[in-house]
Amino acid sequence: MTNELSPQYANELPMVVAKNVHKSFGHNEVLKGIDMEVPRGSVVSLLGASGSGKSTFLRCINSLEKIDGGRIWIDGELVGYKEKNGKLHDMTEAEITKQRIRTGMVFQQFNLFAHMTVLENIIEAPINVLGRTRKEAITRARELLERVGLASHHGHYPMQLSGGQQQRVAIARALAMDPEIMLFDEPTSALDPELVGEVLDVMRGLADSGMTMIVVTHEIGFAREVCDQVAFLHDGQVVEQGKPVDVIGNPQHERTQSFLSKVL
Ligand SMILES: Nc1ncnc2c1ncn2[C@@H]1O[C@H](COP(=O)(O)OP(=O)(O)OP(=O)(O)O)[C@@H](O)[C@H]1O
Ligand SMILES: [Mg+2]
Repeated sequence: MTNELSPQYANELPMVVAKNVHKSFGHNEVLKGIDMEVPRGSVVSLLGASGSGKSTFLRCINSLEKIDGGRIWIDGELVGYKEKNGKLHDMTEAEITKQRIRTGMVFQQFNLFAHMTVLENIIEAPINVLGRTRKEAITRARELLERVGLASHHGHYPMQLSGGQQQRVAIARALAMDPEIMLFDEPTSALDPELVGEVLDVMRGLADSGMTMIVVTHEIGFAREVCDQVAFLHDGQVVEQGKPVDVIGNPQHERTQSFLSKVL
């Protein structure tokens, strides 16, 4: 497999290209050749039953897992490898960390630092990783808190916030690193039903602002209304991908049909 993205992308390079991505844990082959393109500024949702490989695929995109085969490019740059004299070499940990900054990730569990205030949670990495001044980081954090509707909560500690508020802080914290793409892994699954909407609203705003997003979700309404593309994963492969109106409205694959009949 070539390491160069083909000339077909000369005009409009997708933000993410995955080609024939394989990943195993021991003998358990979890990703069995994933192909996917995520155009710049688009929102793709990943649907699929538990264990189908959704989280693993997201984790491969931001190098939390290393792939065994295939290639992933973000904005034309190979993930996890660099090329020297036509050969691929593993990136060093430092190089991987630097590359990972380009992708913001939001998890089901919000993973905020419990001993830090909301503001401190958001400015920590911009100061320590990006080398921003404290003043710059605070200015940006305040803008982001305004954007997620939590301007007045900057001095709160995570435990003083609802789950929905904590998840909005987690989104602001990811955005503070100026990622090129945002990855969401079931961001509303741990929330009480009445708190889901406020997080989805923030994500909708982000999509409207032109952020490229990959969203693993069981919120079919969100996938239908906000996403440009829906990909359905089954057993480590994308069995169906297309516009929500087609994949959700008129699924062709029996696995997609049976999954949707259970969640709709
Ligand atoms: N670190 C790991 N070590 C070993 N096996 C793993 C690891 N991470 C995931 N797996 C296995 O990979 C498979 C796919 O898991 P993954 O978490 O990607 O599925 P998922 O589609 O996100 O499921 P869910 O909807 O439950 O979150 C599962 O069989 C899981 O047990
Ligand atoms: Mg998962």
